[in-house]
Amino acid sequence: MPDYTQDFDGETVLITGATSGIGREIALRFGAAGATVLNADIEREPKDADVPTHERIRGEGGEAAYVETDVSNPEEIEDALVTAREYGGVDVMVNNAGLFIGGDFLDITPAEFDSIFGVNAKGVFFGCQAAAADMIDRGVEGSIVNTASISSWMAQHDQVQYDATKGAVKMVTRGAALELAEHGIRVNGVGPGQIATEFIEDWSEDAPQAAKEEEFLKPVPLGRAGYPRDVAGAVLFLASEDAAYISGEIIMVDGGWQII
Ligand SMILES: NC(=O)c1ccc[n+]([C@@H]2O[C@H](COP(=O)([O-])OP(=O)(O)OC[C@H]3O[C@@H](n4cnc5c(N)ncnc54)[C@H](O)[C@@H]3O)[C@@H](O)[C@H]2O)c1
Repeated sequence: MPDYTQDFDGETVLITGATSGIGREIALRFGAAGATVLNADIEREPKDADVPTHERIRGEGGEAAYVETDVSNPEEIEDALVTAREYGGVDVMVNNAGLFIGGDFLDITPAEFDSIFGVNAKGVFFGCQAAAADMIDRGVEGSIVNTASISSWMAQHDQVQYDATKGAVKMVTRGAALELAEHGIRVNGVGPGQIATEFIEDWSEDAPQAAKEEEFLKPVPLGRAGYPRDVAGAVLFLASEDAAYISGEIIMVDGGWQII
């Protein structure tokens, strides 16, 4: 019987978009759980902290590195996987990098569409593909966790293009789970609701703070914004042996928003 714990000692975890926000918290949690953490992000310096993610983990006695990566370029994802081999090769891949481009449906341009799909959908697809190919090559029955969204299910005004990317993440997760099960690789996702990161700041930066909070929190039964740590806990669970019989699942981390 395997040891059903959330201890990642000796494992290597590659996380995309771990410089800031949710990805950073996921990285810190994996670092605290004993993993070697690789942050594959286009930016090295966090928007929301003073110390880069990998330096913070190292400062706390863990092992971590930054691997400059633009996930919209599949070759750069493959390069990150090659770098990961220097650290033992990935056991867990977290495809978390994402960006938000809002706008009126009638105004969204092909360039904006390509840009948001390049990161949110193509980045996740090729992140899954590259990680899976590497795991199969090394005979590793690893785990992949993708950051989807409440927007994978729910349409909201002025964000058709974002919602469409997150709908794609849902089906990449389910499809890849189906394709990779024979290799013992599990693929799951998390679906954040309103999480307090700079992402929300970007979303409606011209709205006054109070109005923003009211607008964002109105639909949330638990009555508060989520925090990156709320999402990170679900990611670690899905990546762990505790979730050994879970694949193709997306856990909503939304304060109950989907109930209503
Ligand atoms: N914050 C929310 O309310 C919320 C809700 C649902 C889903 N999400 C999803 O969670 C994920 C993280 O969002 P966040 O709120 O932490 O945002 P964030 O903007 O704080 O962090 C996003 C991270 O992705 C990185 N990134 C952006 N483009 C990249 C690229 N091309 N290649 C590599 N890295 C890139 C950024 O540098 C940053 O470190 C995203 O996929 C987002 O869609 C967020």
